[in-house]
Amino acid sequence: MFHAVQYNGTREENYELVIKQLKALIEGETNFIANLANAAALLNQFLDNINWVGFYIADGNELVLGPFQGLPACVRIPFGKGVCGTAAKNKKTVLVPDVHLFPGHIACDAASQSEIVVPMMKNGNVIGVLDIDSPIKNRFDEIDQKYLEKFVETLVALID
Ligand code: SME
Repeated sequence: MFHAVQYNGTREENYELVIKQLKALIEGETNFIANLANAAALLNQFLDNINWVGFYIADGNELVLGPFQGLPACVRIPFGKGVCGTAAKNKKTVLVPDVHLFPGHIACDAASQSEIVVPMMKNGNVIGVLDIDSPIKNRFDEIDQKYLEKFVETLVALID
């Protein structure tokens, strides 16, 4: 059973704790979908002010919807399109303070105001992305970016 914990440290300490929880959840399990599903659920109960968190998986030149928490979302996103496709194409995290100012943003949930997308890298290739949407502007900053990148690195290393 998953034991909910209090995240009452600094933001950095809380992120370190959730990465520890990720390791505990995933170690010993090799199923890709199960591990991504639990990673999305873990982030959903950890992060405040979010309305969507989940994964898109690379499939040729497209990203295909993977495990997530939130409203049903668009299934296929070509590399280079939207925030997710931009992060996948450039192999770099994209932090969007206001989605309405991001050219080509793909709106899946009308409530979304800001967004962060972190690519999942394996041997130099993008295998997917982590996408998180927030119903408030400027939800994500450099601390979120740093630790979400660490979260994703840990995840990819464990599901290898
Ligand atoms: N906003 C994303 C699409 C995915 S949804 O947010 C779940 C984008 O522009 O790529």
